[in-house]
Amino acid sequence: MGARIEGIGAYTPSRRMSNDELAEFLDTSDEWIRSHTGIGYRHVASDDEAASDLGAQAAKVALDRSGTDPESIDMVLVATASSDYVGFPSTACIVQNMIGAKNAAAMDIGVGCTGFVYGLETAKGFIASGAADRVLLIGSEVLTRIVDWTDRSTCVLFGDGAGAAVISPSSNGRGILDSVLKADGSGASYLAREVGGTRAPFKLGHSAERDLLIKMEGQSVYNFAVPAIIEVIQQILDRNRLTIDDIAYIVPHQANRRIIEAAAKRARIPTEKFYLNIEEYANTSAATIPIALNELYERDKVADGDLLITVGFGAGLTFGGNLLKW
Ligand code: UT7
Repeated sequence: MGARIEGIGAYTPSRRMSNDELAEFLDTSDEWIRSHTGIGYRHVASDDEAASDLGAQAAKVALDRSGTDPESIDMVLVATASSDYVGFPSTACIVQNMIGAKNAAAMDIGVGCTGFVYGLETAKGFIASGAADRVLLIGSEVLTRIVDWTDRSTCVLFGDGAGAAVISPSSNGRGILDSVLKADGSGASYLAREVGGTRAPFKLGHSAERDLLIKMEGQSVYNFAVPAIIEVIQQILDRNRLTIDDIAYIVPHQANRRIIEAAAKRARIPTEKFYLNIEEYANTSAATIPIALNELYERDKVADGDLLITVGFGAGLTFGGNLLKW
């Protein structure tokens, strides 16, 4: 039994922050951010919105589009690096309650920006084993709440948003055909929130607020990401006996336009094969891929039967991709 995306949806907060706005309180510029990252704007959640709120909004769109009754969902998966709470309860449990998926199990997937890629294969596994018939997979992030707004090398990169997919059984050859999932924990320190877990617990009155926020070695992540993207795409093509001409779009994690351009050049893939919307949303971690898939769908850029490759990379380090037949 295969599994396919039956309905896709997304939600991004209405507040849209430009690079110029950042330059009002940071030593940065629209020119620097655009030329180094391709980012023009990011959307920012309102004070009363957490990852579950964005995720539930995206989920409602995906449920409506597929005509799915929330009570028929067997599993809610939320991929997030900016969960409502530290550790527990899971954001998936909060979403499960919000949308009335009262018959569903619920759990989070914590693999950083590769979350949606891992989530698709996880959902497929639940469906293939018979443990679930319908899975709701969400990537949702409120990263603007955990970035250090005084650190220009990180805060300009991130934004908030969510994407969701209803995943159901497929027997006609459409769906999630293949996945490559990888991890390299030797790079765990490149992208981390160092304080607040059991390694370095938050001590009342001792930890500086900044220690709780995203810390990133940008150059190290960049150097890891470029070959990781190429490796994943090549592996998916090779083992499915495909060439890049068979693929309608590669939908990459949107972290930095330059990362994609470097990977495209090195792999001799035209940059136009990569669907990019980083200019509008910046890096929304586990949400970038479903937001981009939703945009492809809404703009009528994918037709039934088209082949897509997703490719993600991020904290952990993790990386991977999926081959999808739309
Ligand atoms: O989802 C996955 C997570 N993250 C990533 O994929 C990020 C991967 N890394 C990157 O995208 C890039 O490494 C960055 C965008 C983070 C940085 O770009 P870069 O071209 O590697 O810049 P850099 O770190 O080498 O810094 C170059 C200069 C530095 O100034 P000096 O030391 O040369 O005087 C930085 O201080 O640019 C400066 N800089 C900035 N200037 C203006 C760094 N951030 C900014 C900024 N505005 N926002």
